[in-house]
Amino acid sequence: MMKTNVVLIGFMGTGKTAVGRRLAKTLHKEFVDTDKEVEKATGMTVAQVFARYGETRFRSEENLVISRVAARENCVIAAGGGVVLRQENIEALRANGVVICLTADPEVIHERVKRRNTRPLLQKDKSRGRIEELLQERDGLYEVADFYIDTTNLDLDEVERQIINCLGGHNAQTAR
Ligand code: S3P
Repeated sequence: MMKTNVVLIGFMGTGKTAVGRRLAKTLHKEFVDTDKEVEKATGMTVAQVFARYGETRFRSEENLVISRVAARENCVIAAGGGVVLRQENIEALRANGVVICLTADPEVIHERVKRRNTRPLLQKDKSRGRIEELLQERDGLYEVADFYIDTTNLDLDEVERQIINCLGGHNAQTAR
């Protein structure tokens, strides 16, 4: 069976949303961002869900969203950085998706996330040390992908090109 979804996983600031949006256009697939879906489902921003109800509540909302979007066809799915915290999420996403993990060095992640205030896990402390600590906590959890792309020194076009290259050698359906 052809897998028709392309799933982008990876830590915050690795470019999942930016690249995913582009890739969806190029491949004529629908772009779905799981954080945005949680926001639609709850009527709150991700930061509000964390602040009002806590991370556990966010994770269950995210889990519901994942089970719903994973069942769709022909989507590029940019998953929130924490989807790997639940094995069940990954299993669902893998069923109909080629999973691509974007990575980047901590200093580059830091550069990319420091201007934004939208990420609750980095709200109080956006330092490189905090990023390294979170990466450490999640050590190994991202190693569930079909392909890995280190985006540290790549611009969006190049990341997109590499993803398409990976898909070409895989049984993903890339044509319309
Ligand atoms: C999170 C990553 C965020 C968002 C939430 C939690 C995480 O998504 O889901 O702030 O636990 O890594 P991005 O990876 O799109 O920033």
